[in-house]
Amino acid sequence: MKEKLMLSVNALSGKVIIITGGGTGLGRSMAEACLHLGAQVIIASRKIEVLEKTAQELSTSTGGQVLPIACDVRNYEEIEQLLAASIANFGKVDALLNNAAGNFISPTERLTHKGFDVVVDIVLKGTYNCTLALGKYWIENKIQGNILSIVTTYASTGSGYVVPSACAKAGVIALTRSLAVEWAKYGIRTNAIAPGPFPTEGAWSRLFPGEVAKMFDPKYKIPLKRFGEHYELANLATYLISDFSAYMTGEIVTIDGGEWLKGAGEFNMLDIIKPEQWDELEKIVRSSRKSS
Ligand code: HXC
Ligand code: NAP
Repeated sequence: MKEKLMLSVNALSGKVIIITGGGTGLGRSMAEACLHLGAQVIIASRKIEVLEKTAQELSTSTGGQVLPIACDVRNYEEIEQLLAASIANFGKVDALLNNAAGNFISPTERLTHKGFDVVVDIVLKGTYNCTLALGKYWIENKIQGNILSIVTTYASTGSGYVVPSACAKAGVIALTRSLAVEWAKYGIRTNAIAPGPFPTEGAWSRLFPGEVAKMFDPKYKIPLKRFGEHYELANLATYLISDFSAYMTGEIVTIDGGEWLKGAGEFNMLDIIKPEQWDELEKIVRSSRKSS
């Protein structure tokens, strides 16, 4: 990871960053990048044994300081405890990376109301709980905080079969854009990243099980014909957390190899037409113009 990072090694030094869901997947990769760039990092999620293992591995591989704290983002009191423990350990907190999420594919009519709740509660309630607690702390202490949330491309377009996630992530976009304006007077910035598919065990096991994985072959679905690499997301995230992006707020940055636009563009499926077929098609189109 270190040699693939675009910012210089001290780009985040002096910054203390809370990363929810930082024990696994993309959260872990972004934590690793932040540590390489000199930040002190708190990783927070429900499973303390996973967090402790990750913290141990990342502190060994990066030489940085990483603190694991168990916390369920759905419970506001646990966020207050997370914040208090982070301040007790590092003296302050400068940035929040809202990365924790819950998700699974299901036809919506098969969901129970609790199944809908669990995803919305982790994604939307979890994000506004963390955002509210950190925002109050920053405003009271005159700290120019920075919030980065991880959403998805379908937060803007909507998507069948992941409806609770689409609803919740859309709410996170609304939160991001609303507070960018309201809290700008305190010097607090809020941005989000909308990734396309980046392989992780957490997402693949719940969203691309069995035969479904074949339908997401990047050769057909993604113009750049591959999935994202974790360091590519980490480079964007660390830029948005850093002071180099100080004039950016309220932005939702897509990083998906062109995937969502491919699905949206009316004629993009014509990719499958071979060059020799275009000769014949052009003849037909030109002749119809003459006859009309
Ligand atoms: C239908 C389901 C279900 C499923 C759970 N439920 N899984 N319903 N299909 N596959 C229902 C349960 O029956 C229950 O309702 C309710 O949801 C709560 O389930 P629990 O198992 O008690 O919840 P919990 O243990 O809190 O686990 C939460 C979880 C789980 C969301 C269900 O998957 C989880 O812990 N996920 C965290 C990590 C994660 O999801 N990572 C992927 C993020 S990827 P009833 O009524 O029966 O009690 C991502 C990428 C998007 O977001 C973009 C990709 C391109
Ligand atoms: P992941 O490894 O499953 O990450 C989800 C994390 O959220 C886990 O570490 C989990 O840890 C934590 N979490 C879940 N419920 C929580 C709760 N109630 N309180 C605190 N933490 C909780 O999956 P991922 O793929 O890396 O996803 C990371 C983020 O990227 C998510 O926001 C996801 O929506 C987004 N995303 C991913 C992709 C992709 O292709 N991978 C694409 C677009 C967006 P615990 O189980 O220990 O709580």
